Amino acid sequence: MAAPFVFNALDPETRRDPYALYARGRSEFPLHVHDELPLPVFSIFLYDDVQTMLRDDTIWSSEFAEAFTGTTVADETRKRQESMIGLDGKPHHRLRGLVNKAFTPRVVQRREAQMRASAAALVDIAVETGEVDLVEALTHPFPVQVIAEIIGVPPDDRERFKVWSDRAVSNLGTGFFENTSEEDIAAGEQLFGEMRNYFIPLAEARRKNPQDDLLTGLVQAEHEGSHLDHAEMLSMLILLLVAGNETTTTLIGNAALELMSHPDQMQRLRADSSLMPGAIEEVLRFASPVQFDPRRAVKPTSLHGHEIPENAIVLGWIGSANRDEKIFECPDVFDISRQPNPHISFGFGVHFCLGSNLARLEAQIAIETLLAKTSLIERTDDEPLPLHESPVFRAAAKIPVRLEPA
Ligand code: HEM
Repeated sequence: MAAPFVFNALDPETRRDPYALYARGRSEFPLHVHDELPLPVFSIFLYDDVQTMLRDDTIWSSEFAEAFTGTTVADETRKRQESMIGLDGKPHHRLRGLVNKAFTPRVVQRREAQMRASAAALVDIAVETGEVDLVEALTHPFPVQVIAEIIGVPPDDRERFKVWSDRAVSNLGTGFFENTSEEDIAAGEQLFGEMRNYFIPLAEARRKNPQDDLLTGLVQAEHEGSHLDHAEMLSMLILLLVAGNETTTTLIGNAALELMSHPDQMQRLRADSSLMPGAIEEVLRFASPVQFDPRRAVKPTSLHGHEIPENAIVLGWIGSANRDEKIFECPDVFDISRQPNPHISFGFGVHFCLGSNLARLEAQIAIETLLAKTSLIERTDDEPLPLHESPVFRAAAKIPVRLEPA
């Protein structure tokens, strides 16, 4: 008899190495019913299924309030001003249009020299120290510095900004698997309040005295005659913290980890820096920073012979889709020159990641700088690394390494 399929997305062992379970999911349980959870939750594992779900926002909604009816977070979910990532249709289109006006490729390109200087400064200190936690030394502070600079957070306030960023993602996604505690709800409210008190006066200052930053761009942005109101701007800023920081920290950390575990690939990259963009794409596929992308069924739907009821949650496992053997040749091989590489790590469809170019550039700069300034990067031990608290991320919370200068 076949072994039962136990897929507990909060279990540390599963999170550390989910790939055998994903493979069984793809071949035997392409639609898995999570009977054990408080909400009706399903998981899908095949690339085509995940892509189809993300493509069709008429059946698969990004608005989750209906799914949480009767739970501790129902009221909170309803009264909160959703950011674009949690909206469908026209409201999503409007916000995305407004933010697109401010968050242009030029805004990113203009900061490249500053990004290189920030990465170099962080890596210099790390190399001088010799043995460091790479998360603390580089992968965490770097994206926070970059986004704070892009938004226009004054340098003296950046430490506070970093703390907000950590608090914003600490329990991201856990609400699909367990009831959210009163403390977590209160902590979310508290965070929202602190950020509101900080950003509303700053935005007002930009309105009166425009600067060369994203906050000014958001204040001025106009799309089909409408502007962002205060609540919308605040949710957008929180979204940038949630969607932009931990994801990029994770990508850079995973790049370092995969290169350390595949020394032949690290050697190839050191020898030929033109392989860098492809190497980052392969890290995105092989160790996808965001493991799942959720949607709510707006009507009863059937898939692989199962009925998915209205308002059920379906988790599209990006981490599994990116290892689908129907799409990727030898999917479990880490190959920095893989071509083609149609991974869906930045999502797909109308919610496709708005920061993908920024994330790619940051990761390339961070790894390029690290390789250029070292002759050796290695783990200091073989102990399993502590995991990030949120099940959304495939991320190590600490990466102790030894660095030898170039
Ligand atoms: C490696 C880094 C990153 C990864 C893996 C990533 C992944 C994703 C994914 C999977 C989505 C789709 C969510 C959905 O379908 O509901 C998304 C959306 C989004 N991302 Fe990223 N992201 C990264 C970096 C960034 C950065 C640096 C920013 C901005 C500073 C950013 C801003 C956004 C925004 C605003 C959305 C929502 C777009 C919408 O709803 O239309 N992301 N990201």
